[in-house]
Formats: sequence, structure tokens, C-alpha cells
Amino acid sequence: MPTSEDYLNLAAGCVREAGAIALSMQNHLHAIRYKGAKDLVTEADMRCDQLIRERILAAFPDHNLRTEELGDKAQGSRYTWHVDPIDGTINYSRQLPLWGVSVGLAEGDSMVAGAIYLPASDELFTAIRGQGAFCNGQPIRVSPVSDLSQAIISHGDFNVGADEAARKSLNEANFFARMKTVSSVQRVKCLGSAVVEGAYVAGGRMEGYCMVILNSWDVAVTSLLVAEAGGRVTGLKGEPWDLTRRNALFSNGLLHGELLASLTWDADHPYSPE
Ligand code: 2AM
Ligand code: CA
Repeated sequence: MPTSEDYLNLAAGCVREAGAIALSMQNHLHAIRYKGAKDLVTEADMRCDQLIRERILAAFPDHNLRTEELGDKAQGSRYTWHVDPIDGTINYSRQLPLWGVSVGLAEGDSMVAGAIYLPASDELFTAIRGQGAFCNGQPIRVSPVSDLSQAIISHGDFNVGADEAARKSLNEANFFARMKTVSSVQRVKCLGSAVVEGAYVAGGRMEGYCMVILNSWDVAVTSLLVAEAGGRVTGLKGEPWDLTRRNALFSNGLLHGELLASLTWDADHPYSPE
């Protein structure tokens, strides 16, 4: 019977291997394809997705897979791997350093273990449920900042969404979310990679991260990292977190209530978090 450590070792091996391959390809990308009007996929995304799937299926042939580029492989298992082969693909394609590889295992909708590798800074973030969060083997904790006026809050990118109508609605929600928090906090940021931003909240480098739209592979591992580092993850209305949610607030816990309150949506605004 495999242990949580076995799952983590597989995840960590996958993110390191894929991260090294993606880094080696970054300066000479040939095939960049548009998968939406404003969304890219590179040959490195495809190669890393394929490689991680092969590694997981070689070890656990019966498990389900959910990977960003090659989709779902449902096999009726209670275990599902959530894989983002390159998160922050647009940053990656422009030689910006804020991108990473994320591989994690869930039992049902609850995370068991996962790893994130950030190749540009050579940082490996790891967590097992109930056993804390780590960066390069050292324990990490969320930020101790309890005064909102000293907080750095990051938000998701603008212009995500499959079609123009979705992008417009999500842009408005994103804009309102930033404007609602900006006067209360120290800085509002947007780094363009959910795995980087989630890992940075877990590591105490920022106090919060707000996403009006997400997919499970963007946040599966970071939701575990933040919880294990002493922080909090909920939906944008404060609902309990699980991998089926489409939006999220990540925080250091201390500021979660104040951030949720400052994000309260006007009843007449067209966006209401799902
Ligand atoms: P990607 O780089 O893997 O595409 C940017 O704010 C973050 O949102 C990135 O982590 C990006 O992941 C993710 N993202 C991009 N398009 C998205 C979409 N349509 N829905 C949810 N998340 C998206
Ligand atoms: Ca992603």
C-alpha cells in the first residue's frame, strides 16, 4: 500500500524533471499555438504534460488524471492527479521568471500531497496533508502580518476566459476586486501565475491571493501548501474550499475575514462569485 511519502516523491520527481526540461527549452521555443484568442500553449507545455502523465501512470496505472493540456483520464479511481505542466505560460513564453510546474494528488476533492517547482529560483515547494509545508526541505509558514494596511495582495490576470463575453465579465470582477481592496492594503499585485502566487502566500512573501476564475490544476497543490503553512483558503464568499470551486481567496488566515469583507460584491454588480 503506497504511503503519502510515496505520492509526494512521485510528484516532486515529476515537477523537477518537467521544470528542468521546460527551462532548457525556454530560450528557443518554436511552436507557440493559440488555444484561445488570448491564451497560448507552447511545445514545452505539451511535452511536460505528456511526460508527467507517463510517470504517474507508470507508478499508478489505475489513478485518474486531470492535466491542463491533455485533459481528463477518468478511470473510476478515488485518487485523481491534478497537473499543471507549466503554470504562467505567458510569462514563460516571454522569458519572465514567474512560472512553475505543479503536480498533486487528491482523494475525492481533498488534497493528499503535492509539489511545485519554480525553475527560475530553483525552489521546490512540498506538502503532505497534516504534515506541514516546505520549501527546499525547510518548513515554511504564512506571513505574521495582521494589519491590513501592511498587506500585499495579488490578483489573477486580466483577459482570461474562453470567449469575449466571459473575459469582459471576469475583467470587471477582477477590476472591482482590486479596487475594493486597494485603499486598505499596502500593495496590489498581479504576478501572472497562480502556482507562484499561491506558493508565495504559503511562504509568507505575500498575505493574500484572490482569483475570480480558476481550474483545479492551478490551485490543487497551492491550496494544500497554504493550509499546511497555517493559512486559509475559501471561496470568495467565504465558502469552505474544495477542488470543484471556480474562485478562491488564499490568505495568511489572520487577514482572511477582513479581506473577505472588503471583497463583498455589490448586489447590483453583474458578477457574483459562483
Ligand atoms: P496558465 O498560465 O497555466 O494558463 C493567471 O492569472 C493565472 O490564471 C495563470 O495561473 C493561468 O494559468 C491561469 N489561467 C489562465 N487562463 C485561465 C482560465 N481561462 N481559467 C482559469 N485560469 C486561467
Ligand atoms: Ca495554470
